[in-house]
Amino acid sequence: MKKLQDKIALVTGASRGIGKSAAVHLATEGAFVIVHYANQREAALKTVEEIEAFGGKAIALKADFSSLENITALFKEIDQLLKGKKLDILINNAGILNKFGLEEITETQFDEQFAVNVKSPFFITQQAISRLNDGGRIINISSYLSKKPKYEYGAYSMTKAAIDNFTLSLATALGPRKITVNAIAPGSIDTDMNKERFKDIEVREAVSKMTAFQRVGKPDDISKVIVFLASEAGEWITGQYIEASGGLGLV
Ligand SMILES: NC(=O)c1ccc[n+]([C@@H]2O[C@H](COP(=O)([O-])OP(=O)(O)OC[C@H]3O[C@@H](n4cnc5c(N)ncnc54)[C@H](OP(=O)(O)O)[C@@H]3O)[C@@H](O)[C@H]2O)c1
Repeated sequence: MKKLQDKIALVTGASRGIGKSAAVHLATEGAFVIVHYANQREAALKTVEEIEAFGGKAIALKADFSSLENITALFKEIDQLLKGKKLDILINNAGILNKFGLEEITETQFDEQFAVNVKSPFFITQQAISRLNDGGRIINISSYLSKKPKYEYGAYSMTKAAIDNFTLSLATALGPRKITVNAIAPGSIDTDMNKERFKDIEVREAVSKMTAFQRVGKPDDISKVIVFLASEAGEWITGQYIEASGGLGLV
């Protein structure tokens, strides 16, 4: 039997990068996956196609998290889709990174950073709690930078520290329902978020050399941890910050 047979998962930001990989890995283990996306419909449909190609089940749903109304609308669609069934796994993954230091960041950029990375997982979780089965899983995608912030990613680092904090309070509150809540902190992963940065081969090599394995991370490196936490093997792990960075910064 597959590890997540008949489970229902919502993965935010599953059109690309880590979220896409998570959706595919969860579906491989038997979960029905709601593939959320904001604008890149084609990419989300491709995620669904990839899942269906191996006999998995998935559907793409759109919501731009810069507004709360869209989150409410997303859950209305989920209710119609699930027809009384509940979610088992919530992966709060969607996120953006604005690279601006204190001097140059504008109020709009700061607000956008917090709307997508903090406000949306907070209110998605608020909506999800009553729709989540007891024994379920909430996995928040944090960042290595939440505990090792960088000046030029100041606002982004702050958003991820907020996610770590939220993870802790949720884990305590949802313990009686046997729902585990954890934060996974990726290091530097090869996704669109780092596309510009990694175009510079010297930057890529410099980051690789900072890891114990001498390479940058791949989305699958994170999805494997997601599947572990989502599966039965993860049932005794809650309120944890799990850095999955290949030992970034150890070298
Ligand atoms: N990549 C890294 O090195 C790294 C390191 C640490 C932590 N993380 C975290 O890991 C998560 C995934 O990152 P990634 O690198 O996979 O990112 P990515 O490849 O840039 O993908 C971002 C995802 O978020 C969605 N999204 C963007 N803006 C949104 C909005 N306004 N409303 C709703 N969804 C929105 C995108 O949807 P569309 O495709 O529709 O635009 C896409 O699915 C993020 O939380 C990020 O902070 C990444």
